[in-house]
Amino acid sequence: MLESPVAHVDLAVLDDNYRIVREHVAPGVATMAMVKADGYGHGLEAVAKRLAAAGSEWFGVASPGEALALRAAGVRSNVLLLSPIMDPGLITRLCDLDVALVATDEASVRRYLAADLPQSLRLHVKVDTGMGRLGLPPAAAAGVAEAVARAPGLELEALWTHFRDSDGPERGTTVWQIERFVEALDAAAARGLQVPLRHACNSAGILAYPEAHFDLVRPGILLYGYAPSAEFAGAEPRVRPSMRLSAPVTFVKRVPAGTSVSYGQLWTSSADTTLATVRIGYADGYPRMLTGKAWASLNGARCPIVGRVCMDQLIVDASTAAGVEPGDRVTLWGGDGPSADELASQLGTVAYEFITRVMPRVEREYLG
Ligand SMILES: Cc1ncc(COP(=O)(O)O)c(C=O)c1O
Repeated sequence: MLESPVAHVDLAVLDDNYRIVREHVAPGVATMAMVKADGYGHGLEAVAKRLAAAGSEWFGVASPGEALALRAAGVRSNVLLLSPIMDPGLITRLCDLDVALVATDEASVRRYLAADLPQSLRLHVKVDTGMGRLGLPPAAAAGVAEAVARAPGLELEALWTHFRDSDGPERGTTVWQIERFVEALDAAAARGLQVPLRHACNSAGILAYPEAHFDLVRPGILLYGYAPSAEFAGAEPRVRPSMRLSAPVTFVKRVPAGTSVSYGQLWTSSADTTLATVRIGYADGYPRMLTGKAWASLNGARCPIVGRVCMDQLIVDASTAAGVEPGDRVTLWGGDGPSADELASQLGTVAYEFITRVMPRVEREYLG
């Protein structure tokens, strides 16, 4: 650990964030913690086990591999795989493991029916109310839901949708999406269908559209301690980042003015400077695009990252840091370093992208 970059994940912070999210939601509404993308980079298994213990009844994943990994890790909670599955053998396997799948159109229902189903296959029918990514138009959803409800071997467990703009400043689109979702729910009710679960809200939806919590909410980014967007910065000030990224100093030197470092000579010292080389780079998930735009914390000092960010290393100007030695650890984000939000805004992107891109070769250390 001394020698490698580490993502320090504070599971107690995750607990706190979960509890804070739950404070926005009525007791009868279930939670589906989004643990896709390796638990937003925090580690799928550790996050799911901790949040299951905290009370999350459901977990949302994006790939079959993630669903299988949850079951292999012994997570017995409800799992929804958010994207439709094509391969009959995989459908059989996921059904056998009691993973719920999504029905996105009639063809997806036919595929599920054509597979060998070892037990009833739980299906969540996706209504496309405006995201335009997956699912049925509201007017068509009830028909497919009915086909699922009537088919032997299939179980209609949910109707659900996803918001495209709930984290933006403008409310009209989300209100319109909620209305379209309610139309689909009403149409299902008019056909006499019992729909056990109706769900729509991501983190921003949870905070800003309580009327759309329905039976279950799907928080992601808030659990990991970040706001869904700049518009929501401060909307829930109590959540805290659950990840801190650190890496070791491997080399320290004092250089005179006029010394340039790293590829392309993008930076040259203007005075005597202490430079510390740090073992982390873009192949660990620290973006090369941050060259010239970021700082990191070293022994409590705010140190600019100087010169080009390399594949495995970068260099900080450690002149203001006291007594720097190889082995000292630099905080790249989280803790007393910059927040992933601050860095993301430098690149016109979101903290989601930073935390989900921490590479497997970065060790995970679990605290709390
Ligand atoms: C379908 C679905 N629901 C919920 C979420 C959670 O979103 P957030 O992390 O903004 O809470 C996501 C994430 O992108 C998603 O794709």
